[in-house]
Amino acid sequence: MPPQSRRVVVPFTPQKPPWRLEAGDAVALMRELEDRSVHLVITDPPYFIDGMGADWDDSTLARRAARAGVVGSLPVGMKFDPGQARAFGRFMSAVAGEAIRVLKPGGFFIAFSQARLYHRLAVAAEDAGFEVRDMIGWTYTGQAKAFSMDHFVRKMPLPEAKKAALIKSMEGRKTPQLRPQIEPMVLAQKPREGTFVQNWAEHGTGLMDATQTWEGKFPGNVIHCPKPTPAEKGAGNAHMTVKPVRLIEHLVRLFSAPGQVVLDPFAGSGTHGIAALRAGRAFIGFDIEESYVTLAKRRIEEVAHER
Ligand SMILES: C[S@@+](CC[C@H](N)C(=O)[O-])C[C@H]1O[C@@H](n2cnc3c(N)ncnc32)[C@H](O)[C@@H]1O
Repeated sequence: MPPQSRRVVVPFTPQKPPWRLEAGDAVALMRELEDRSVHLVITDPPYFIDGMGADWDDSTLARRAARAGVVGSLPVGMKFDPGQARAFGRFMSAVAGEAIRVLKPGGFFIAFSQARLYHRLAVAAEDAGFEVRDMIGWTYTGQAKAFSMDHFVRKMPLPEAKKAALIKSMEGRKTPQLRPQIEPMVLAQKPREGTFVQNWAEHGTGLMDATQTWEGKFPGNVIHCPKPTPAEKGAGNAHMTVKPVRLIEHLVRLFSAPGQVVLDPFAGSGTHGIAALRAGRAFIGFDIEESYVTLAKRRIEEVAHER
């Protein structure tokens, strides 16, 4: 899209709420944003679990969940698709390509991923022109998902004695799935214009706010934070991957400044919008699912009324 037809999205005026949400494809909607109009992109993209391609569809997941744990279809989230990481990388290349255009020089791009997909995300950001500055690990208490093979062996056309021997030989053995305890994020930066000081003076970006301690300590690249409780998610929030507001708010405060514009092109239930508003930033969010946009609006409006 030529620059002259791009929508002006900033500055937000006092008459307009400092946030907006739209339903649609992330890359298509980002294309409508002006160059250099955003100070921070912080996002939690879909990971294409179960090799579902580029679609994110909770009803398909729910159907699979209903069959979970039975032979014939691996439980949700456990199917290993060797093409998944490459598909994720291609998808994130397009996202990173738009993110670097809409960010101001020195602006940060923070995106979540999974441990086995992170490498593709980091390469996508780097190939788009970002400087990868760090990996941030969100650590939490996860549920073990590995499972044993006994059930499969019992269904094999073997004499019972052989089955028993095979099961015995695999005692304690499970699928190679460590208990998930970390979600890695890429911390990437659009190249600065000039020195840190020149870039800061011109664009207000490029430096982190080191006064934003986490549990009293200098901000670090591993952040332990419990998953959100049902109360934090809010009534009627059935989104499957809600992030903790406290974690996102910490990152927003660390990597942007009051009054600046934060973008989340995969807004889901609106957690990043809540965090941005609580931190006194303006927020732009997109999600392909209309129902999530409605949910996110409701959650963000509650915070907007707090202010
Ligand atoms: C991991 S979730 C984000 C959850 C969010 N951080 C929260 O706390 O609620 C990813 C979101 O991306 C959305 N999504 C998937 N493909 C998309 C696309 N092409 N464009 C925009 N949104 C998309 C999904 O509907 C989903 O809500």
